[in-house]
Amino acid sequence: HGTADLDLVAGLLRDVPDFPTPGIRFWDLSAMLADGPGLAATTRLLAAATAEPPDVVVGIEARGFLLGAAVAHSLGLGVVAVRKQGKLPVVAASRSYDLEYGSATLELPAGVIRPGARALLVDDVLATGGTAAAACALVEGAGAAVAAVSVVLELPTLEGRARLGEHPVHALLTR
Ligand code: PRP
Repeated sequence: HGTADLDLVAGLLRDVPDFPTPGIRFWDLSAMLADGPGLAATTRLLAAATAEPPDVVVGIEARGFLLGAAVAHSLGLGVVAVRKQGKLPVVAASRSYDLEYGSATLELPAGVIRPGARALLVDDVLATGGTAAAACALVEGAGAAVAAVSVVLELPTLEGRARLGEHPVHALLTR
């Protein structure tokens, strides 16, 4: 049912011009997340990123939390929340990166990723790739491996995939 799932997901995405700043086209996944079959289809597709099941799912703030938890639950795995700076009480490592609009720092919670684990990273959108690259660096800095980066939407003109080097990228849709 892969094609039907994909059509369902595609029909639930909407783009908003000039958000959060002029010139940025923002992809809003709220309608998909609010739709039971839409979220289920998205979760199935995101979870299929790797042939071998991963050991843990890593969700990237903020929409990656929702999707990452759904994917983790569907695979019988736990989820690790990679958060924006200042949110986690005990931090393993921090990593700063440039964003399409501004810059930010991501942090990995201490003691929750096992060295040697294979992690599936989940987020909503791959744009410039700065966010996902920082999350990959945090996971690898903890001694774990990135099995794949799984996103709903890739914006290929921003060349985020190149920023991720050899890490496998699994994007359900491109826009
Ligand atoms: C958005 C999106 C990705 C990231 C992609 O998050 O959810 O995480 O940007 O952009 P990039 O590939 O250019 O790094 P945002 O930074 O807006 O954070 P939020 O989810 O906390 O609002």
